Amino acid sequence: TIFPDSAAAAKALAQEVKLLIETKNKAGKPAVLGMATGSTPVPFYRELIRLHKEAGLSFKNVITFNLDEYYGLSSDHPESYSKFMAEQLFDHIDIPKENINLPSGTVPGDQVFNHCRQYEEKIEAAGGVDLQILGIGRTGHIGFNEPGSSRDSLTRRITLDRVTRQDAASDFRGEQNVPHFAITMGVGTILRARKLVLMAWGENKASMVAKAIEGPMTEAISASFLQDHPDARFFIDHGASREL
Ligand code: GLP
Repeated sequence: TIFPDSAAAAKALAQEVKLLIETKNKAGKPAVLGMATGSTPVPFYRELIRLHKEAGLSFKNVITFNLDEYYGLSSDHPESYSKFMAEQLFDHIDIPKENINLPSGTVPGDQVFNHCRQYEEKIEAAGGVDLQILGIGRTGHIGFNEPGSSRDSLTRRITLDRVTRQDAASDFRGEQNVPHFAITMGVGTILRARKLVLMAWGENKASMVAKAIEGPMTEAISASFLQDHPDARFFIDHGASREL
């Protein structure tokens, strides 16, 4: 869907999430949301906060799983995704702390494998993700699934691509400060969500959006695997649609 701007797309998606939460709650079940970071979902989170404050939308019965976390950053590091989510969303809504899940950035090296397996198990135990929110990186990644990530990959530690580290450099005041590794849900983990929405704004996303939607499914662009999902949608603005 091509929206006039990111605000319109964020509004539409937030309404959809409101309906999902209300429907699941009526059925006595928690809504399970897959969350993303980066600048792209910020207008959407702002809209969710607005619905909480102005329309009484409660997140008491919502469980969240974030896609990824930088490996080596503690949860209170200013650039950690844990901190980002607290500032952009969780601190402003009524979600119980114990319902919030992100991969750990500080799990010791010899426990990473188990930690990742437990993250997968936790998602399963919650009943699977109802709706996964996604952005797209300049390498075509979803989460931190850099080129070479297989269709069936699961939550794991990954080495960040040079391009991804360059893009994060300004946030970290220099590329040398950007972590080299992250823990990310795999492509296979992401594709297990019942619904997926990838958001992208602006012309600098246009080439990757076109490759993901119209190009071949390839490990070189992990977002292209969304073609293999029965309910995956792209919410984009005019800029991001330029090369379709
Ligand atoms: C990071 C995140 C991705 C995100 C991407 C794009 O790599 N791990 O989930 O999609 O950045 O960031 P932005 O939305 O700021 O363009």
